[in-house]
Amino acid sequence: MRCARDLRSAIDVTKKRSRRQGRSQIRKRPFVIATFAMTTDGKVTTKNFGPVDFTSREDKLHLFRQRALADAVLLGHTSLERDNVRLGLPAELQEMRIKSGQSRSPLRVIVSNKGKIDNRLKIFQSDLSPIIIFSTKRMPRKNQKALQRKATLHLTDARHVDLAVMLETLRNQYKVRTLACEGGPTLFRALLEENLIDQLNLTIAPFMFGGATAPTLTGLGNKFLPASVHCSLIKMRTIENECFLTYRIKHQRGRRN
Ligand SMILES: NC(=O)c1ccc[n+]([C@@H]2O[C@H](COP(=O)([O-])OP(=O)(O)OC[C@H]3O[C@@H](n4cnc5c(N)ncnc54)[C@H](OP(=O)(O)O)[C@@H]3O)[C@@H](O)[C@H]2O)c1
Repeated sequence: MRCARDLRSAIDVTKKRSRRQGRSQIRKRPFVIATFAMTTDGKVTTKNFGPVDFTSREDKLHLFRQRALADAVLLGHTSLERDNVRLGLPAELQEMRIKSGQSRSPLRVIVSNKGKIDNRLKIFQSDLSPIIIFSTKRMPRKNQKALQRKATLHLTDARHVDLAVMLETLRNQYKVRTLACEGGPTLFRALLEENLIDQLNLTIAPFMFGGATAPTLTGLGNKFLPASVHCSLIKMRTIENECFLTYRIKHQRGRRN
């Protein structure tokens, strides 16, 4: 793969960061890196919430590389259902992880409040890495029964999943130091509101969709964020018509957890 060397050095950087975190014991949650692609007018999907196919092969590889760097990959229920993804990796990236002492593929984490997750989705037909579901006891019994065979369930008594607690569990129970959040926008916004995103990888694709009913990066809601989020641009590269941006999120009141 073209960027194997880049990936190896990125793995080294991730390992160094993990060692620093381990030494200081300051961070009790994983470093959370969100990766999204959006159109030049800020849309992450069409009005029908169709699967994301407005980006290049290079962008799809970029997503795989980011996934390969993480200990776990996180997805919201709607994106899982709409995109029906397995959250796996190409063989070269699996080999790369093995060589650097990691598991073949990152853990796969799904979040849902209602818990009506269909066990026939593709992710449950592949055993490339363990699947962990964070949901509530609102999950219907029949779903619980079917999903228990395929995944580890963390069901809270509360009506909503506490995302900070979820991240702490991933860190403490599953040793997740770097988490790749692949959306969607509803979940991203919820994490952002709680100051739980550390980095955003954003691809700007050369399209415009228009319309008020196609979600932006922070979803469809017309409410402002509780406070504007400041980012600093740490990397930028362009390949043909796409721009790949890396932002570090500036935590306003210090990083939570
Ligand atoms: N362009 C991109 O890079 C990109 C990336 C990802 C997704 N997408 C697109 O985005 C669309 C889906 O967007 P979306 O915003 O509707 O979906 P989403 O964020 O993937 O999923 C929303 C669902 O996830 C669960 N969820 C979200 N926040 C939660 C929280 N705080 N606690 C517990 N559960 C939570 C809820 O599931 P329950 O309803 O089950 O409770 C919620 O309805 C799809 O069309 C997908 O293709 C685009």
